[in-house]
Amino acid sequence: MNGKVHVMDHPLVAHKLTILRDKETSVKDFREIVSEIGMLITYEATRDLPLTTREVETPICKTDAPTLKGKKFAVVPILRAGLGLVEGVLRMVPGARVGHIGLYRNEETLEPVKYFCKMPKDVAERDVLIVDPMLATGGSADAAIGFMKEYGCTNIKLMVLLAAPEGIERIQKSHPDVDIYCGAVDEKLNDKGYIVPGLGDAGDRIFGTK
Ligand code: PRP
Ligand code: URA
Repeated sequence: MNGKVHVMDHPLVAHKLTILRDKETSVKDFREIVSEIGMLITYEATRDLPLTTREVETPICKTDAPTLKGKKFAVVPILRAGLGLVEGVLRMVPGARVGHIGLYRNEETLEPVKYFCKMPKDVAERDVLIVDPMLATGGSADAAIGFMKEYGCTNIKLMVLLAAPEGIERIQKSHPDVDIYCGAVDEKLNDKGYIVPGLGDAGDRIFGTK
């Protein structure tokens, strides 16, 4: 069975994505909104975190109230653009560890090239959320998920802002155990591997490098 695709069906996410799509949006606003959407998608992607209870005393009485079970969690941005989503995730899950995978797409083959990798020591014991704004051909996410599996990780989710149908299909084929959380699914890829209508080059727009 394929992994599920959870498309955010929320007016705040839709509104904020439209601001990101607008080519006139400033680098500062783009960066802030990427982080905000990251926070909103994290809310959905953590829906199945296990809870326990603890006793607290309210001003009225004692009660057993829900609290997170403290499952180990790691957020793994795909460099560079994935960095833009980390702050939003950490605001929701402040105790998470952060692992980094550096990949860039070879502009001709569109295949990912690895240039950096640094993980928490106990990453194999952690639930892993890989984050990247764009799932285009799916090559980068496919490789990143593969690396995390080589580290021994068994519970992996992928969070993106925009996904192309081609990328979703690739991940579902190569990693059917991985659920995808995305802000929206766009129409297609163009002949340069960019998402249409998309938002352009996410890394360049977050870091102002173009
Ligand atoms: C972008 C994006 C993804 C990748 C998606 O990164 O952030 O990592 O492309 O494309 P794919 O699904 O076809 O692999 P890019 O290679 O532009 O590097 P950057 O993050 O350094 O800008
Ligand atoms: N990477 C991006 O940054 N944007 C796209 O549309 C596709 C890949």
